[in-house]
Amino acid sequence: MLIDLKDKVAIVTGAGRGIGRVIARTLADEGAIVAIVDIRQDLLDDASMEWLEAGLPGARLLADVRDAAQVSAAVAAIDEQFGRVDILVNNAGVAAGARVDKLSEEVWDANFDTNTKGGFLMCQAVSPIMQRQGAGRIINAASFAAIIPSIGSAAYAASKSAVVQFTRVLAGELGPFNVTVNSYSPGMIPTDMNGYAHLPEARKQRLLDTLTLRRWGEPQDVANLVCFLASDLAAYVTGASIDVSGGKFATQIPSVAYE
Ligand SMILES: NC(=O)c1ccc[n+]([C@@H]2O[C@H](COP(=O)([O-])OP(=O)(O)OC[C@H]3O[C@@H](n4cnc5c(N)ncnc54)[C@H](O)[C@@H]3O)[C@@H](O)[C@H]2O)c1
Repeated sequence: MLIDLKDKVAIVTGAGRGIGRVIARTLADEGAIVAIVDIRQDLLDDASMEWLEAGLPGARLLADVRDAAQVSAAVAAIDEQFGRVDILVNNAGVAAGARVDKLSEEVWDANFDTNTKGGFLMCQAVSPIMQRQGAGRIINAASFAAIIPSIGSAAYAASKSAVVQFTRVLAGELGPFNVTVNSYSPGMIPTDMNGYAHLPEARKQRLLDTLTLRRWGEPQDVANLVCFLASDLAAYVTGASIDVSGGKFATQIPSVAYE
């Protein structure tokens, strides 16, 4: 059986760059009509060029997922243009951190406003459309930080743990409407968000030592999982939180297998 998203209408937030951009392109390559939402016009323009060159259908919308009015306007515009929303990927996120002693209220709020509230607002706007359709897929970006957090990530890890529980509650509420709601937890995917690619060599090796597969993740690794969750193949998966981390800490010291 193949993944077939032909003519499904998908929204991917934070799709101007990084993992979200690859998720959007992967869904489009599987036949979906993808509406890309981002807070940055320059990133949207860049994505538009890619879509135009590849001749892919879809839409680009400038919106801040933290703002309820912008979110409902964006979702209403997509519903009006395409008549439905089959897939929502809440990928937009920020990762600001500091040790708790030094953690400012602004940084705390920044994490929760985008990572937690942003996803909630998007789900609230899309939910009536999916209920009307009697079908839908909601896929929320959590993080490995929601499984095992790291020092300095209190705000980020707490905001992403909230995403996991929010996902389970919404899965329960939307089950009767045949709408599935899942979250996924990427491990270490080098992007502009985290600068893994530019770390000193010794630190890179220390991080790689935590991985069963001992390689950095690619945005495509995450996009493949999201694509599966968006498809009919995942019809019986809901309320789940799926780790896509190359087996980070699957065992206590994964590097022993490489010695
Ligand atoms: N890269 C990793 O290793 C990793 C690990 C775990 C989880 N994640 C999660 O995956 C998602 C994508 O991460 P990434 O590494 O691609 O990050 P990134 O910073 O490269 O991309 C994030 C995108 O979200 C957009 N965005 C930020 N705030 C927004 C807002 N308020 N409204 C709309 N768009 C907004 C940005 O403009 C950007 O295009 C995030 O939710 C992140 O927490 C990433």
